[in-house]
Amino acid sequence: MKTRLTREYRFFLRNAADYSIKGNAWSGAASGLSIAPFFILRATVSGPVDPLTGYLINIQDIDRGLAEFVQRVYAPRPADEWTYLEMIRSADQLADAFAAPIELLQVELAVSPFMSFRLVLKDPPMLTFTQEFEFSAAHRLDCPALSPPENQKYFGKCNHPNGHGHNYVVAVTVACGDGAFPLAQFEAAVKRLVIDRFDHKHLNLDLPEFASVNPSVEHIAKVIWQLLSDEPLLAGLVNVRVYETPKTWADYSAI
Ligand code: NI
Repeated sequence: MKTRLTREYRFFLRNAADYSIKGNAWSGAASGLSIAPFFILRATVSGPVDPLTGYLINIQDIDRGLAEFVQRVYAPRPADEWTYLEMIRSADQLADAFAAPIELLQVELAVSPFMSFRLVLKDPPMLTFTQEFEFSAAHRLDCPALSPPENQKYFGKCNHPNGHGHNYVVAVTVACGDGAFPLAQFEAAVKRLVIDRFDHKHLNLDLPEFASVNPSVEHIAKVIWQLLSDEPLLAGLVNVRVYETPKTWADYSAI
């Protein structure tokens, strides 16, 4: 059994002198009215939980480690001299901010609300990229093997004969190689293979993949995985997550 704790540190990438080691501002460290890139670092640590305090680690200690890292490593170089891959690869230095028995498991760098990189500090380290995509589609949940009353009872309003719609969000995670990540080709491949085919469609009627497969969010995630995994550009596919609503999502991966 292992407890993990994740702490988020938000920051604007500015000159080192603009940072305060103290505190973890809600709006982001080194905030101000002049324009600067905004990032989020999420550190996940594991370790024993102190039975007295209930703490695995004091979050102020995580904040200090993250703030010191941003000031020492990121801030001395101008923002336009960094690449996202260089930023997340540098985050392995954060492991030194934690002493045994506390262990840094992974660091996530969110570079926009829709794009993030994750460095898992196992041996060897694993670096992944996740991007979110959106499509709107209709579907109907219905099993021909069940009677109409049985379908109605099991699926409820999701069995409505004329279907209903969702605004789906698809988060695709791929492993990054050692070189540059081909972001433009990745986006184009997901758009061509999934979004262009699924968006503004009735999944049951318009997509052969769901002609005899109920388009539940679980099945949609699996079908999208299969469509993407056939593409050589996406050979490093790690996970497909599909949100049917903000409250319901499914993950599919080969691992
Ligand atoms: Ni539905």
